[in-house]
Amino acid sequence: MYLGQSVNLIYYNNPTMLRDLSKYNRSYSYAELDVNDVVENPINQFVNWIDFAEESGVDDFNAMILSTVGESGKSSSRAVLLKGVSEEGFIFYSNYSSKKGQQIKNNPNVSVVFFWSKLDRQIRIEGIIEKLSSTVSDNYFNSRAVDSQIGSIISPQSQIIPSRDFLNEKMEELKESLHNRKLIRPIFWGGYIIKPNLFEFWQGRADRLSDRIQYRLEEGKWLIERLAP
Ligand SMILES: Cc1cc2nc3c(=O)[nH]c(=O)nc-3n(C[C@H](O)[C@H](O)[C@H](O)COP(=O)(O)O)c2cc1C
Repeated sequence: MYLGQSVNLIYYNNPTMLRDLSKYNRSYSYAELDVNDVVENPINQFVNWIDFAEESGVDDFNAMILSTVGESGKSSSRAVLLKGVSEEGFIFYSNYSSKKGQQIKNNPNVSVVFFWSKLDRQIRIEGIIEKLSSTVSDNYFNSRAVDSQIGSIISPQSQIIPSRDFLNEKMEELKESLHNRKLIRPIFWGGYIIKPNLFEFWQGRADRLSDRIQYRLEEGKWLIERLAP
């Protein structure tokens, strides 16, 4: 357990390099960012940026890397798709019994990061996660294509499975037993909302001197600050 303890890190002296990637670094020049360029509310600022990413044709602009921390204090990251932004926060859907689901149960502190290479932009968000109500999750589940519904029902996400056939067989079984019946959202699958308490909007600049504008929630108010790159 490393929770709350400081640790003496080992100095690793002799990495056996398989690839040297140190020559790959480009100069960022797409835009600049100043505290005067951003709006008061960071969720609105996020909406401005994600709208722009969509308009600019950024691939997978709605994909975010979600990090969670388990009981042991170990962190774990994976991509999920942002499905909506509300005044309260950021919505995505997943399997509540998955690895992330288990970690979230133990620790609701999560963070996400978006990186849009085409715009030299990164957004970091930290917050507290909650489950969406069953009504909201039902509505989203019912809006999904039947094959996606089946996928979320039959896949025991994050568990070890014997083969691809295991999934194919479960899929076929469920399809055959359906007879045009409507599928119902399983209780182990549904939505989450991340309620943010920290944002950072990063705009890459030349010479690694990028612009970083942070929003920090203090006593219910968002403070806007510039961070050193
Ligand atoms: C671009 C992209 C989008 C994804 N979107 C989702 C998603 O919205 N929900 C989800 O549960 N998994 C999504 N996945 C799969 C996850 O990255 C991950 O494999 C899965 O959720 C299991 O993670 P876990 O074992 O840490 O719980 C996505 C993967 C990629 C690459």
